[in-house]
Amino acid sequence: MKSTFVLLAASLVSARLTHQHLRDHSEIAKRALPDRWFQDDAHPVHQLFKRAPSTDGVKYAEVGSSTWSAAFPEGTPDVEKLPAAWVKALDDAVAAGKIPNIPVAKDNGFDNPTYPQGVDPVSPEVCSATYKCRVPGDVWDGPDGTFSTSFDDGPLPPSTKLNSFLKANNERATHFMIGVNIRANPKIFTETFEMGNDIAVHTYTHPHMTAQSNKQILGQLGWTMEIIHNSTGGRIPRYWRPPFGDYDVRVRAVAREVFGLEVVIWNQDTDDWTLTEKDGTTPEKISASMNQWLTGPKSPGLIVLEHELSDQSVQAFMDAYPAIKKNGWKIGSLAKIIGDSAYQNTDPSGNVRPGIVAANVNALNTTSSSSSSSSQSGSTTSTTPSSSSSSSTSTSPSASATNVAASSNSNKNGGLQDASVSFALSLLAPPCALLLSLL
Ligand SMILES: *[C@@H]1O[C@H](CO)[C@@H](O)[C@H](O)[C@H]1NC(C)=O
Ligand SMILES: *[C@@H]1O[C@H](CO)[C@@H](O)[C@H](O)[C@H]1NC(C)=O
Ligand SMILES: [Zn+2]
Repeated sequence: MKSTFVLLAASLVSARLTHQHLRDHSEIAKRALPDRWFQDDAHPVHQLFKRAPSTDGVKYAEVGSSTWSAAFPEGTPDVEKLPAAWVKALDDAVAAGKIPNIPVAKDNGFDNPTYPQGVDPVSPEVCSATYKCRVPGDVWDGPDGTFSTSFDDGPLPPSTKLNSFLKANNERATHFMIGVNIRANPKIFTETFEMGNDIAVHTYTHPHMTAQSNKQILGQLGWTMEIIHNSTGGRIPRYWRPPFGDYDVRVRAVAREVFGLEVVIWNQDTDDWTLTEKDGTTPEKISASMNQWLTGPKSPGLIVLEHELSDQSVQAFMDAYPAIKKNGWKIGSLAKIIGDSAYQNTDPSGNVRPGIVAANVNALNTTSSSSSSSSQSGSTTSTTPSSSSSSSTSTSPSASATNVAASSNSNKNGGLQDASVSFALSLLAPPCALLLSLL
């Protein structure tokens, strides 16, 4: 015990004192901490999705195994069985006045939810997207000249054909996934993820979200976050899309304050989900709409609502693809086009940020590769995935961020790093010892 303590103390001191040195030799950090991930503590979501010190080194259940599926709700999440940490995070956000106290809308089945009399859905206090109110700053439009590719409602069997098409054309998409569909289609989920597509949240069972209580929202978003997190080696999704585009300021606040999720809507809708419905749209109609949008003004950029619900809806995208290219749109995964990463804990290339040799991430301040390292020549910091493979040595089989992201079983490689001092006791001593020996 005593010697451990001394080692810890030495570790912390060395981490602080060698800050400069460490940044200049970030490859050492990568080698030393092969499978630990950077975890920003700025948002409370990082408290909800990370390993406790005692479970570090945990192997996530194999995606698709019975242990794996048994761990997630079969259907609509039970609000009485939510993880206590989620409920506490919600209570804290409510107590801090961050969750607007507006009425829960009435669920009308397939029709739009309605608010009690006297509640104006387009007032700033409610601002329901269903009633065409836009919260300033929320994403409905893409940057000029861009076509953001995204698909809702997967993973489902038609996703496979879509994925092959995307791959053949060297394209990626953001997939807004439904929790129960992930649970039911683990192979398609993994295939989609491993082909480099971005995974985002589309709730657990696809309800109208304005008609859900705060705790129901917790369950809908939290379990979808958790199944994605635990099935991608620890990635925390950044974006969500409400089913039917139905959200208001309350729903938005729970998503954002508790889970750090940013909402994404769309600015064009093909109605492709009705392709298989009686009296639904037709491929010809979709093609005409697409053609009109694609040959029209490039401002704002296009975010077209599309689904991987049926072979027909997938085909509608495939049919439109040549015209997207021909008309000069910059096409890409929605998450990459509107932001730098699809996940809250990965770098801009989507690679998990490797852990750094430190007790305190903030003290080391190596989170921003461009700004924080600009004054230091040769310093790449630990967030630069492209240089990592060359700087890894044969002594560290999974040392680089690239490895973690590209590994076919990346779910086994990742782990979320707790930056607390107590965590440092078990995790940081060996790398710091290595560092010391190299000084
Ligand atoms: C998800 O993984 C975490 C470890 O990161 C673990 O604590 C949790 O129990 C897992 N959740 C499920 C539902 O298996
Ligand atoms: C990190 O470094 C940047 C740039 O030097 C600085 O602006 C920022 O305040 C620092 N953050 C912390 C937590 O030290
Ligand atoms: Zn949907």
